[in-house]
Amino acid sequence: MRVATARSSHEWVVYFRMNRSRLLSIPWSLGAELGAAERAAITSSIQAFQLGESSEGRNLMRYARGWAACSGDSDYVEAIALLIAEEQRHARDLGRFMELNGIPRIRRRWTDSVFRRLRNFMGTLEISIAVLVTAEIIAKVYYAALREASESKMLRRICDQILRDEARHVQFQTEQLARLRRERAAPLLWATLALHRLLFLGATLVVAWSHRSVLCRGGLGFGRFCRACLGEFAADRTRRRDEGTSRRIDRAGEICDDLRVRQPAKDFGRDLDLRQTVAAAEDHVLEAHQSRIDVDRQIVR
Ligand SMILES: [Fe+2]
Ligand SMILES: [Fe+2]
Repeated sequence: MRVATARSSHEWVVYFRMNRSRLLSIPWSLGAELGAAERAAITSSIQAFQLGESSEGRNLMRYARGWAACSGDSDYVEAIALLIAEEQRHARDLGRFMELNGIPRIRRRWTDSVFRRLRNFMGTLEISIAVLVTAEIIAKVYYAALREASESKMLRRICDQILRDEARHVQFQTEQLARLRRERAAPLLWATLALHRLLFLGATLVVAWSHRSVLCRGGLGFGRFCRACLGEFAADRTRRRDEGTSRRIDRAGEICDDLRVRQPAKDFGRDLDLRQTVAAAEDHVLEAHQSRIDVDRQIVR
């Protein structure tokens, strides 16, 4: 039995706060772990992703305030602020890892500049989060490959944390996109989704080509990476069509979360147990959080 659809912004605020207090510990004390060959293979790629994670999100905050003002959803502003804080944590962790391994940060990369321009292309919340979620869906596949591309325990743990966060970011953003597109007439919605698919395809091809050495090292050739990204995109669309984040009550009366964190690199073959444990722990966090919210709702009623 379906009892709810998308989570409210308040629920997401509660989740993001809870997530902040349950971060995986990263073994910083291991210091420089990368050998010369590993460092050479991942340097350019990790530099680009570290830069991409480091946005201040000022425009996004402005769009979020605009949405909150016209919809009355004031919690959305805080939810977006917490999401940006998670992205900045990703940038910080990757930056710290790079410093420890003698990889300099970069300030500019053409792909990042294009991405930032696209996000603010029309000056709307919808375009901004559509472009962001495009990057986040691709990131779910990329970080799984980056994790496999290195033997560094530190980098693997950083990737685990980012993968865990990004799965929820995608969920949060797609729920908001669905809200923004709710009233749209069918032909216009079809055109919107076609354009989004085109953007996603283009972004996937660019990432697959410009990060090919890391992806290959991580077990994903060009074609396999593209297929994995497109699979993630399609799975995300299916989830949305099925009311995305619906929850149901099973026979035992327990509240279950329908949305499973997909593991894009499930068949990569190395060290999968840790990632599955992490994902299971993450689902547990959200389920525990959801149970608490549902109990709260019953008390209010
Ligand atoms: Fe991120
Ligand atoms: Fe994200």
